[in-house]
Amino acid sequence: MRAETKLLSYAKPYWHLFVLAIVIVLVSTYVEIMPPRIVKDAIDSYINNQNIPVNDRIAGVIKSGILFLIVLILRFFLNYGNIYLTSYLGAKIVYDIRRDLFNHVMRLPMSFFDRNPSGRITTRIVNDTQNVQEFFTTVVTSIIKDIFLLGGIIISLIQLSKILFIQLSYIFPIVIASMILFRYFDRKVYRMVRTNLARINAFLAEHIAGVSVVKIFNAEEQKKKEFDNIAKDYYKSLIKQLYVFGIFRPFMDFLYFLGLSLIIWFGAKYIMNKTIGFGALYAFASYLDMFFAPLRDIAEKYDIVQNSMASAEKIFNLFKENGEKLGKPDGKKHVEKGVVEFKNVWFSYDGKRWILKDVNIMFAPGYLTAIVGETGAGKTSLMNLLNGLYVPQKGVILVDDIPLQEYDLKSLRREIAVVPQDVVLFSGTILDNIRLFDENIPEEKVLEALEKVYAMDIVNKLEKGIHYEVVERGTTLSSGERQLIVLARAVLFDSKILVLDEATSNIDVETETRIQKALRELSKDKTVIMIAHRLSTVKDADRIIVIHNGQVVEEGKHRELLKRRGVYYKLYEVQFEI
Ligand SMILES: Nc1ncnc2c1ncn2[C@@H]1O[C@H](COP(=O)(O)OP(=O)(O)OP(=O)(O)O)[C@@H](O)[C@H]1O
Ligand SMILES: [Mg+2]
Repeated sequence: MRAETKLLSYAKPYWHLFVLAIVIVLVSTYVEIMPPRIVKDAIDSYINNQNIPVNDRIAGVIKSGILFLIVLILRFFLNYGNIYLTSYLGAKIVYDIRRDLFNHVMRLPMSFFDRNPSGRITTRIVNDTQNVQEFFTTVVTSIIKDIFLLGGIIISLIQLSKILFIQLSYIFPIVIASMILFRYFDRKVYRMVRTNLARINAFLAEHIAGVSVVKIFNAEEQKKKEFDNIAKDYYKSLIKQLYVFGIFRPFMDFLYFLGLSLIIWFGAKYIMNKTIGFGALYAFASYLDMFFAPLRDIAEKYDIVQNSMASAEKIFNLFKENGEKLGKPDGKKHVEKGVVEFKNVWFSYDGKRWILKDVNIMFAPGYLTAIVGETGAGKTSLMNLLNGLYVPQKGVILVDDIPLQEYDLKSLRREIAVVPQDVVLFSGTILDNIRLFDENIPEEKVLEALEKVYAMDIVNKLEKGIHYEVVERGTTLSSGERQLIVLARAVLFDSKILVLDEATSNIDVETETRIQKALRELSKDKTVIMIAHRLSTVKDADRIIVIHNGQVVEEGKHRELLKRRGVYYKLYEVQFEI
């Protein structure tokens, strides 16, 4: 479906409001071109009309005055109605699009997010939808209005005096040509200004966020020069923009006054030989004045149309991305025992490099299994497959002997608790984060869960304890603290399968001990998988699995593995220098 069609499909439910908006626009255009005619009548039929008695002339002028006032009031209400209606329509349609878009994005598979930086996705949902809103609010009705207004003005000019219109007509092509020329240059410099501004923004974002690196490496001078160059480019493009406007505005003024002089030049003759009245000449001049605004408007709105069409295209391309396959919605929802089995699993993120190669592992309830391996070995990837964030290219993952894809993945995810390496908390309190904003879960239960993972005194140390407000995705908490909070969540929801991906940033020994103790106890009736970086934490695991280059290379208890003098031994050697 083309962007325009799809855009229109969003407008369809409101078609009657669009019809109303267009009717209002038509009426208001008619009202808009009334004032010069009223003044013309007042001058020619009453003020300058020597053929009727003075009293009638005065009465006529008063009548015209009242009519003028009524037109002004009508114009006010029509404009108000028009602005209100189009703004309402734009906001409503864009609200619909934005909501659908967010829902859609949330359902996209992880591979989509690997390909698209979060900034770009945010731009689609915030800025591009905004551009589309402009299409509805300003363009739809004002372009229609401008076209009708131009038509109305030309008809009025011809009605007033055909000869004068013809004599003036060669000025119109000049006006239109200069407008097109101006748009061309304006667009060019505008783009230049925007690009340079974007460069400044990107540079600032990168360097203010990374200011510590700049300081540490003494790069201030170098960065100062770089910024100076970018800022200078921006400044230059602004000056260019000034030139374009500096020439265009006065030139349009010149054309306007030229037109006015022509009206007086030719008009004076016609007044003297009584072909037209003075009032008609006045109306002629007024319409000329009115003629320029809609022309300029159309030229400007044309850009907005292009802009919003480009945005609509991008939005609808995003809509075309296929959603995640969430297993079978009517499939199995609950995990009974919690036996997990990887069978001949092969996996690659990009379809080029195998990250996991023929992995076979079994995890059973009642055991604490540790997974170790050097960085980049594929440990986290293994877990990304278990909760269905990614799908393996070959092989199967079974939970209680049933393939993952046979489950209703949405429900299954709830029963597999994953505490990631780098926990992201939502804004809200710690309480909200543990019970996932479900107010039906009482506070006591949350406290109990915190007790179970030995995190109560850590939370108590925070200001307001469990009601501590999490800011900026939880960066004010240490990574160990964040992991404990998510671990408490897993306990609260009583997940059968629990995976903890040990934080890579070193957590203090005390937090580590707490996590260890909690996991040990949880493993009594759950399947607990612990991905560990520090081998000191895996010594007591029931089983240790060693991953190397995406393959399971060793398996056993700590002592057995050390005796083997293989990969595990080497890892151990590096960490403890034995
Ligand atoms: N989203 C992704 N897209 C493409 N490649 C990825 C992605 N995530 C990880 N990789 C690559 O997959 C490989 C395995 O990564 P993984 O995160 O599983 O390692 P890990 O064993 O968890 O390492 P660490 O101990 O550092 O946490 C790495 O080489 C990494 O570069
Ligand atoms: Mg990892």
